[in-house]
Amino acid sequence: MSELHELCQFPNRPITSEYLTQLKYFLKEGIPATYTLEEAINYELGKEDEELSSTTTPLHLICRSLPKDLTEEESKVVQEMIEELFSWGAGWNLIDDKGLTPGDILFDNGFRDSPFYQIIVDAGVRAELLLRKINDGDYEFLSEDEGGDIQISQEEELLRKQIEEQSQQEESEEPQKQEEVEEVEEKTEVPELVDDKVEQLKQEFINDPAGTQSTFLNTKLIYKDGALITDQQDGVMMDWENEIMSKSCDTIFKSTFEKETPEEDLEEINVLNIGFGMGIIDTMIQAKNPTHHYICEAHPDVLTKLEEDGWFTKPNVTVLKGRWQDTLPELLTKGIFFNGIYYDTFSEHYTDMLDLFDLIVGLLKPSGIFSFFNGLGADRQIIYDVYKKIAEIDLNNYGLKITFEELETPKLTLKEFDNNDESIWNGIKRPYWRCQTYYHPEIRFY
Ligand SMILES: C[S@@+](CC[C@H](N)C(=O)[O-])C[C@H]1O[C@@H](n2cnc3c(N)ncnc32)[C@H](O)[C@@H]1O
Repeated sequence: MSELHELCQFPNRPITSEYLTQLKYFLKEGIPATYTLEEAINYELGKEDEELSSTTTPLHLICRSLPKDLTEEESKVVQEMIEELFSWGAGWNLIDDKGLTPGDILFDNGFRDSPFYQIIVDAGVRAELLLRKINDGDYEFLSEDEGGDIQISQEEELLRKQIEEQSQQEESEEPQKQEEVEEVEEKTEVPELVDDKVEQLKQEFINDPAGTQSTFLNTKLIYKDGALITDQQDGVMMDWENEIMSKSCDTIFKSTFEKETPEEDLEEINVLNIGFGMGIIDTMIQAKNPTHHYICEAHPDVLTKLEEDGWFTKPNVTVLKGRWQDTLPELLTKGIFFNGIYYDTFSEHYTDMLDLFDLIVGLLKPSGIFSFFNGLGADRQIIYDVYKKIAEIDLNNYGLKITFEELETPKLTLKEFDNNDESIWNGIKRPYWRCQTYYHPEIRFY
């Protein structure tokens, strides 16, 4: 173990400014803020070229070693140490030998409400926003299994985005002459990334129904035991979300009961739901009997279910068949405006949400409310917290205000119940939810 690593484990109390001085000294001497325990061990063993399977950084060690009984002065020193590490390029989402980010460690050790956790959230927000800029205006997005890798690199994210766009382009241009297909492939090929790892990643992503829309839309879906799943056991919708749907339904009707709502907004109560799934929220919307209830749904198997269950013939229901990206712009041109809009799809990413915001501002009535299933980064609390802030920043740029209500989620969704027969994830390939608290969003114009 290096001296830097030792320092970050606070061998002596009290934690005085001498710690900060020492830390600055090591960093100025050229030790990277991301220098890992694994690298130090490999160095001692003369195996410097060995690939790292985890990245336990000085920041992880600080988070692991934080005493519970810190004094105010000690807490200040630790905060400055964390800030100092970030100013030298420490990673907020690197994964240690236990599969945890520094923020995860703080959360698990009861420091969720501490200034240390907040510093990491702020650093995460800054890093994600910066990545967007670096990606030349292209948006960074989270995959459902983000965090499983040591750190998803920017190149990989860029590649994912390009693959997704390529698949969608191919899909929309079918049938196509072979030469044209080859031309598209050539154009979208990523220079300098053509090695085995990238090829493997590309294949995994293309074949993953949760990762690529075109794959999802061609994957068979099955309704069973209170869930809608793919034939590859991806959970598309599950009935543990009932309470969230009920709350969301109340939210998108909320402005229709408020006395400040302008009369003209109440002449017709129009509601739009994007993503039918099991029809849980649509059934709840119907119970409130809006004037017009629009349902946007893209998957053929779900559309069959809508047909079988009589949704096409309900007097106040209009089913928009196809992806919202294709069907919603027409509503704009027709001048249809909504009191409430809900968004809950599958196999889409934060970048899609950003595209959706462009339409939402045009489709909402002045008093209208937008809400969505907030699973942004929800397989890790720290990423969930970072994306809560990012969503707020992005929506503010549209003149929209977001507030969150905290709801408890069922304990059986949590990791510690994975080996329990009652775990909600039994028979599901990959849990898409891991947080104790759900941040229920309500979005409206300022
Ligand atoms: C999680 S489910 C929605 C569950 C729903 N909130 C409920 O209460 O049962 C997601 C749904 O979105 C649909 N979907 C996915 N991508 C879509 C898109 N781009 N446009 C429209 N629907 C989409 C899926 O086919 C699926 O039916």
